[in-house]
Amino acid sequence: MKHNRVEFSYSVYENASELAPADAALLDSAREAITQAYAPYSKFRVGAAAVLSNGVTVTGSNQENASYPVGICAERTLLASAAHQFPDAAIDTLAVSYDGDFVKSDHPISPCGMCRQSLQEAETRGGRPIRLILAGQEGEVFIINTIADLLPFAFTPTELG
Ligand code: THU
Repeated sequence: MKHNRVEFSYSVYENASELAPADAALLDSAREAITQAYAPYSKFRVGAAAVLSNGVTVTGSNQENASYPVGICAERTLLASAAHQFPDAAIDTLAVSYDGDFVKSDHPISPCGMCRQSLQEAETRGGRPIRLILAGQEGEVFIINTIADLLPFAFTPTELG
């Protein structure tokens, strides 16, 4: 019997002003995308922006529904839009931000489990790591090097043969 260990490292920036200009611009796009959110039920609005291998930036926001489970997160809105418009492009970097009526947007949020699974598929499909930039409207910014770090033991397309 042996023990395996999974760990990963990520970068923590004190605030967005410490970011490289391209990363700061992408985070700004994610923050801007928050304004397109439709979140009348949770009042928690999420914006996402990704720069693709073809240089195009694609955005997404959460789109809720009166039948709550039908709602879709910002990340998967973005993934569907990117895959539809640019099926041959990989995602290089994806930024996520948020605001909410009942919370202070002063720390990063990270993608839900369902989005991690979708992001993992996009990463596999693109054939390159997707970098993640996670931040609120203010405060610390996390940069994670690959979705694989967020979803150890993922069920991947390779399992299907
Ligand atoms: N949500 C996202 O869009 N992305 C996340 O990373 C976390 C949660 C949305 C789903 C729902 O519309 C609202 O935030 C509250 O969960």
